[in-house]
Amino acid sequence: MTAGGRRSVVVTPCGDGGPILVRGADVIEDADGTAHVVTRPVVALCTCEKSQRLPWCDGTHKAVERGRRRREGAA
Ligand code: FES
Repeated sequence: MTAGGRRSVVVTPCGDGGPILVRGADVIEDADGTAHVVTRPVVALCTCEKSQRLPWCDGTHKAVERGRRRREGAA
């Protein structure tokens, strides 16, 4: 997408400890300054920091969330 000749991205938080979806990015730069080339139209960035493929979400957040709910239910 472009806005005034500038490329823009769309960022959508999934909530509940899930990823942030980023649409339209060419490169994602992580907190360490490492650039990660984006090869897909939409990528999912990990927010739980448990992914084995950081900065990308690998679905691990689902197990993390299940464990959290289980612990809260047991409390
Ligand atoms: S948000 Fe999905 S693995 Fe971290």
